[in-house]
Amino acid sequence: MRPLRIALTKGRLEKDTVALFETMGLDCSALHDKGRRLFFPVGDSIEVVLAKAADVITYVENGVCDLGVVGKDTIMEMGMSMYELLDLGFGRCRFAVAAKNDTDIFSRYGSVTIASKYPNVTRRFFESLGMDVNIIKIEGSVELAPLVGLADAIVDIVETGLTLKENGLEVKRDVAPISARLICNIASLKLRQEEIEGLVDAMERHLNQ
Ligand code: PRP
Repeated sequence: MRPLRIALTKGRLEKDTVALFETMGLDCSALHDKGRRLFFPVGDSIEVVLAKAADVITYVENGVCDLGVVGKDTIMEMGMSMYELLDLGFGRCRFAVAAKNDTDIFSRYGSVTIASKYPNVTRRFFESLGMDVNIIKIEGSVELAPLVGLADAIVDIVETGLTLKENGLEVKRDVAPISARLICNIASLKLRQEEIEGLVDAMERHLNQ
């Protein structure tokens, strides 16, 4: 049988996952010396591929990867038909509504415009408040939108809050906490249940150490 294939989100979540695998005693040397390879063996029974967050979900949903490590932010935005097996605890940050210090979008009449890289998260959040808002999708540097007058506020990821502070913006409302999650293809969990559960148990044990 082929090794369990895991897609890791490139960057920080990749590094945190590799660190976890290493505390579990798995050999991750291929991931420290990548070269031009696309598949990286981890121990004897795991194979890692690296991808952007949204692609991790696509690979797992389509069953070409059995498992994936991806942020809850991407899961919330893309929706998913797969299992979320474990909260890995790292990659912690939050979704928040932010605006200029002197802007109050929650107690004002008239239309409100929100810029975000996460239009689905934004729509659901404001729907839950019964607020009808215009949403503008932005691809990056979302903090710019309220400063140039494109939007009244933003929904974005806040980690330290430094980016907001340095740009005269502040959190007005928390939307949801975010952290890295281990996700699993639905068919894989049926077909390779024992192996996957073994791996999940081992990961969980080492996370709690
Ligand atoms: C995120 C987010 C903020 C920043 C917040 O961007 O969009 O810009 O991090 O972090 P802070 O609260 O610690 O300042 P990211 O670095 O992920 O890049 P992006 O702008 O391309 O999304």
